[in-house]
Amino acid sequence: MAKAKLKRVSREREFLAAADLAHTIWREHYAGIISSDQIEYMLEHFQSVAAIREADARGCEYYLVRVLGVNVGYVAIEPNNPQGKMFLSKIYLLKEYRGKGYARDVVNEVREMARALRLKSIRLTVAKNNTSSVAAYERLGFTNTEDICKEIGGGFVMDDHVMELSV
Ligand SMILES: CC(C)(COP(=O)(O)OP(=O)(O)OC[C@H]1O[C@@H](n2cnc3c(N)ncnc32)[C@H](O)[C@@H]1OP(=O)(O)O)[C@@H](O)C(=O)NCCC(=O)NCCS
Repeated sequence: MAKAKLKRVSREREFLAAADLAHTIWREHYAGIISSDQIEYMLEHFQSVAAIREADARGCEYYLVRVLGVNVGYVAIEPNNPQGKMFLSKIYLLKEYRGKGYARDVVNEVREMARALRLKSIRLTVAKNNTSSVAAYERLGFTNTEDICKEIGGGFVMDDHVMELSV
């Protein structure tokens, strides 16, 4: 079976592709998890082309997840956030490509990147009621280390688990 591979977002069309994937995936997946107002707020503030470019400029690396040349999702990582850890800031796959082992491929690749940088773990945050993703992360070996509730502006909050995986 074909493996998922990461391709760093660097060209204009790749920034557009990542933002486009975000809009499709978030509107489909987060309906029922967070309000539609919050989805639109987060897309505008964190997943627009401008927001992705700004994040890239401050060291948040975006990658397209590709399978046989097709963009099936996107990922963002921040090395040393916090110091010694790789923050897996985003991992989102289109619905039709879930449950096929692609997140396992992605996590393995991110793990290799973390090892090359001598980082000790991969850290992520996931909404507590995003239960299918929490279950997938648990299967991938992540464990819940902390719960946090953070304000994200616009009167919205994210009520998250923090999960970590040793590399
Ligand atoms: C979370 C997500 C990235 C996982 O990706 P995926 O490609 O579906 O995961 P995989 O197919 O690689 O599965 C990894 C493991 O989790 C398990 N798994 C996947 N989905 C699961 C689910 N809904 N319930 C229970 N286990 C699940 C798989 O069986 C596999 O374990 P195994 O190899 O021991 O059988 C993907 O489902 C997704 O994009 N979800 C929507 C967006 C989202 O919420 N992203 C996370 C934001 S924090």
